[in-house]
Amino acid sequence: MADQYAQSGEDKQPAGIPAIRWDEPPEGPVVVLLDQTRLPSEEVELVCTDASALVEAIRSLAVRGAPLLGIAGAYGVALAAARGFDVDEAALALAGARPTAVNLSVGVRRAQEAHQASLARGESPEQAAQAALAAARTLHREDAEASARMAEHGLRLLEELLPGGGHRILTHCNTGALVSGGEGTALAVALAAHRAGQLRRLWVDETRPLLQGARLTAWEAARHGMAYSLLTDNAAGSLFAAGEVDAVLIGADRIAADGSVANKVGSYPLAVLARYHHVPFIVVAPVTTVDLGTPDGASIEVEQRPGYEVTEISAPQAPVAGAGGGIPVAPLGAQAYNPAFDVTPPELVTAIVTEAGVASPVTAKSLAELCGRPVGE
Ligand code: MRU
Repeated sequence: MADQYAQSGEDKQPAGIPAIRWDEPPEGPVVVLLDQTRLPSEEVELVCTDASALVEAIRSLAVRGAPLLGIAGAYGVALAAARGFDVDEAALALAGARPTAVNLSVGVRRAQEAHQASLARGESPEQAAQAALAAARTLHREDAEASARMAEHGLRLLEELLPGGGHRILTHCNTGALVSGGEGTALAVALAAHRAGQLRRLWVDETRPLLQGARLTAWEAARHGMAYSLLTDNAAGSLFAAGEVDAVLIGADRIAADGSVANKVGSYPLAVLARYHHVPFIVVAPVTTVDLGTPDGASIEVEQRPGYEVTEISAPQAPVAGAGGGIPVAPLGAQAYNPAFDVTPPELVTAIVTEAGVASPVTAKSLAELCGRPVGE
């Protein structure tokens, strides 16, 4: 295993991954997404001309990841306003497209409130639409800035916890530029370590069933010339046992007031493994992911997704189509358990890194202080 570690390369390309953008062609305003369901085979743009197309893109995971969902939600409201649709109806549909990532409803609300405030000032519908768009653009820019701050705080934390560099970092799902206005959350920290010459290996969980690790994180890591290896999710245990993991870095979809972390299903087993093997388990997320209105992990709604995502390998051009259009890997009619996320209790989390700083140990108090709000608000 060790001989692979020498391959760490230069940053081959700057991030430059336009996961989402607003455009105004002559036919009218649109939200343009990099269709993440088509990666890594094809870099295809998906053009959304109305909020309902964006809702469908969110449900199908063409656009995904907590911070980017917030940005998409805000642009969706701006799009509805600019195209003269019922903004409140669009906002409701967008916020309800997926339940777990709190950023989605936060982003929708910011644009909706800007729209409402403009109308309340007596401004025209056109001005109100501009106000919603300005709010979406601000959120987009703030997320990029938060991403850069998280990378700085996270790198410093790694240096404190693991002096000497040479980190072998395990990550799960996708938390890079594809989920952010900037370079992401957990993957942005790994990238900062790579640029500082401190990343020996990025272990990338494939992340069944939708393979965000294999399809997306590996794609991003390759673009940056990071030394990475892909593993099946169930190989993580033996990797820890072999002493090959120095830290786990993951993102979050919602962090409850007590510090419980909802993230891609498979995160909790990694936290248990990390604790058993005395390895730091670090969560990286912007403050917008902290939901002090959700008291604890049990109160977080975990999205349940269709069983065919488990019983079939999703492939648009599959030769044998199952109910979901993919290749069946289970007997016809097999039932499946398919939660999109799981919840890690705060006692298993070494630290939560945000743009505002680091909460460690993770408690309701440290989290509330970090977010600048008193406990209970
Ligand atoms: O179902 P997805 O692909 O939207 O899930 C994404 C994740 O779980 C990410 O880890 C999370 O959103 C954090 S990304 C900064």
